[in-house]
Amino acid sequence: MTLKIGLLGLGTVGSGVYEIINQKKGCYFSNTEEDIMISKVLVKDALKSRTLKIPPEILVTDFQEILNDEEIQIIICVMGGMEPEYTYMLQAMEKGKHVITANKAVVSEHMDVLFKTSKKNNVNFLFEASVGGGIPIITTLQQVLKINQITEIKGILNGTTNYILTKMSQEGLEFEDTLKKAQQLGFAEADPSADIDGFDVSRKLSILSSLAFGYHIKENTIYKRGIREVTKLDMDYIDQMGYVLKYLAHAILKDGTYYQTVEPIILSKNHMISNVNEEFNLISITGNIIGELQFYGKGAGKNATANAVVGDLLYIINNHFVPQEILLNHPLQNGNISTFNGR
Ligand code: NDP
Ligand code: HSE
Repeated sequence: MTLKIGLLGLGTVGSGVYEIINQKKGCYFSNTEEDIMISKVLVKDALKSRTLKIPPEILVTDFQEILNDEEIQIIICVMGGMEPEYTYMLQAMEKGKHVITANKAVVSEHMDVLFKTSKKNNVNFLFEASVGGGIPIITTLQQVLKINQITEIKGILNGTTNYILTKMSQEGLEFEDTLKKAQQLGFAEADPSADIDGFDVSRKLSILSSLAFGYHIKENTIYKRGIREVTKLDMDYIDQMGYVLKYLAHAILKDGTYYQTVEPIILSKNHMISNVNEEFNLISITGNIIGELQFYGKGAGKNATANAVVGDLLYIINNHFVPQEILLNHPLQNGNISTFNGR
């Protein structure tokens, strides 16, 4: 039997997902007997010219065509923005369809309702690609949480801003030029203000710390400063003094209060984080038993992100559609820890 999938969005990430599945890239797809196909793809403009080769008859502009297709059991949401994607995710789960997403804006804002809806309907809601691009941080965090209390999360969580700062520092380029390049490479959000003003990093930190601390920490409670005012002159001074500017996310849980910040930080050139360049991310998590763990890899871009999305798909298929235990039972309780959203 062929497993049919509905794909919402065919941009940077969606086209990467389509290529992996349709061209049977990757070990699983070349070795498996199972037949998996993306049978419908939701786009905004079905007539737009696309470099991706795709049968035009599978492109739809009405979500109802995917929602009401009984043969589609899994929906991959990679459109971006809050609405209508959030509503589509809820409607899909209410219809008994599993949902996979890379949309950190929706996960960060609505994870409590999304988890409850997935539990109620006994379906998976998976979002590995929403943080760290290709780094399997959500899966790993859940594994670490089985034994540890997480006390600290820190690192570089945004590929676009790290790309901008790297190019400004190493190649002496201007801010605007590097931002344009990051957009062309498919790293930046549709509205790049999300990257350069810190919303994207805050959303990712919100997701990680909510899972880690068991409390829904919303993006707007996190102290943030963007990097849009950084100039080439600033970078030259910082470089001459022997330092590097990096855009750091940091969350600590201490004595029942969590402290969270997203801001540019000056680090010495030999600091480990100083050597994380271009679109790469580095995520450090500290557990009370295991100590510090660090994860490094491509944090944005087509292949890295699509790899994470397809990883979630394989989780669902390999586990025979049984919803993921830890997330379903995640407490996300309110009211037992307090926030301090400043330095
Ligand atoms: P793009 O802007 O490249 O693509 C968005 C796609 O969604 C397009 O195909 C567009 O259609 C479609 N779309 C947008 N709005 C609608 C709508 N209202 N109805 C129907 N279709 C719609 O985005 P990305 O692929 O870069 O990002 C997708 C998601 O993945 C976002 O949530 C982003 O935050 C997340 N993400 C992105 C990463 C990256 O490196 N790019 C990394 C990790 C996560 P059309 O083609 O017709 O315009
Ligand atoms: N715009 C995001 C970034 C995409 O640059 O990190 C990956 O989440």
